[in-house]
Amino acid sequence: MDYRQVNIGIIGLGTVGTGVARILLEQKELLKTRTSLDLNLKTIVELDWSKDRDLDLSQVKCITDADTLLEDPEINIVVETIGGYEPAFSFISKALRNRKHVVTANKALIATKGMELYKIARENDVDLLFEASVGGGIPIIKGLREGLVANRFKSIYGILNGTTNYILTKMHQNSLEFADALKGAQEKGFAEADPTLDISGGDAAHKLAILSTIASNSFIPFDKIYVEGITGITKLDINFAQSFGMTIKLLAIYKRYEEGLDLRVHPTLINDSHLLAAVSNELNAIFVKGDFVGNTMFYGPGAGERPTASAIVSDIVDLSKDFMVQNGKKYSNRAISLTQNVQLIPIEDIKSRFYLRFMTMDKPGVLSKISGVLAENNISISSMVQLESHEKDNYVPIVLLTHEALEKSVEQALQKIVKFDFVKKDYLRLRIFE
Ligand SMILES: NC(=O)c1ccc[n+]([C@@H]2O[C@H](COP(=O)([O-])OP(=O)(O)OC[C@H]3O[C@@H](n4cnc5c(N)ncnc54)[C@H](OP(=O)(O)O)[C@@H]3O)[C@@H](O)[C@H]2O)c1
Repeated sequence: MDYRQVNIGIIGLGTVGTGVARILLEQKELLKTRTSLDLNLKTIVELDWSKDRDLDLSQVKCITDADTLLEDPEINIVVETIGGYEPAFSFISKALRNRKHVVTANKALIATKGMELYKIARENDVDLLFEASVGGGIPIIKGLREGLVANRFKSIYGILNGTTNYILTKMHQNSLEFADALKGAQEKGFAEADPTLDISGGDAAHKLAILSTIASNSFIPFDKIYVEGITGITKLDINFAQSFGMTIKLLAIYKRYEEGLDLRVHPTLINDSHLLAAVSNELNAIFVKGDFVGNTMFYGPGAGERPTASAIVSDIVDLSKDFMVQNGKKYSNRAISLTQNVQLIPIEDIKSRFYLRFMTMDKPGVLSKISGVLAENNISISSMVQLESHEKDNYVPIVLLTHEALEKSVEQALQKIVKFDFVKKDYLRLRIFE
């Protein structure tokens, strides 16, 4: 059988790039059978060729200069797996302008410069796909764009960052403080040496920006998303959450209301009976509610060489199908066409139930003063726990769970409560997922 050849170039042979090369070389025959295409890994651009990657690259052109790849007229698809903003942005723009399809896993770039890149792709009648940028190996982008295309999305929420989920899981399972769980995650390779982007919630916000853009047909830059990380969570909070039958997870949330979109990333208490509470370690899970399909759940490995490469190759195959018709003339353009502008609802106007933890001096009247301030701000308490003093400085934790309250009322109350001389400044406020 005569298989149509599609020539592929990879820029960046790191974790993900190596996985893509491995699939294209090792699964070549399987992919041929399934797609009737000869996916030919023609060129790889990498700066450091000294590392042993356990790959047979004897049939591949291995170079260090990206322009040679980007200007090669035989290359049909460029895979960008170097990460970061530059030179990734310049490489992708140049590839699109040279009418090559591009596949990337670069969530930071898509969440910030996506609008510009989609425009360049559309102008040049080529596509830019990024399945691997959210949820690693989970086909969530294809799920939203294809499987669930008939739906308006009422809500999308889930665990989008494996590093923070691993840390929180270990804090729950082994009763660890945050710093110890982070150290363990770094030793096991689940957290980077510099984990800032993960633990600050920034990485999950990049991914939420991408999903929200697809779901709303409106470009959502990630810096418009309200973000809180997990660094303020202590072993004490984990123990309290467990005593209430709840688990703390870093959730990314998209909710669509008449007034606009509610988008946020923050640590959240989830009832143990919810499926998300059981999503452990580095795994990711995303719940999607569409107006026709109802509730769906996507679950699986959110990162790593093999899952991420699996998602990239699915994009490659998707694009390669274009070459099965009319000598490479495209029949579709998947680069997002953004049609609406949506209103984002400010965090102050969101309502939730809250978990409030204060460290207060162990003396009479403390609780009535705190609950008085909450009442003044229309916040009612649903449960309360106060532990006995076990610290030398005579401070004790008080935890309050509230009924649904407005975010700005809670903020006003907190500002007043921390001014009491019997309350330590480092309180914790978490939202409870309903
Ligand atoms: N790792 C994951 O599990 C995962 C999951 C989902 C998405 N992603 C995304 O995938 C992308 C790649 O991540 P990664 O973990 O594979 O990173 P990585 O291991 O650091 O790989 C990047 C590779 O690109 C090379 N490189 C850098 N600049 C280059 C240039 N100008 N020309 C050619 N090669 C260059 C690097 O070489 P040197 O090492 O010599 O600098 C390195 O080998 C990122 O956008 C990341 O966010 C990763």
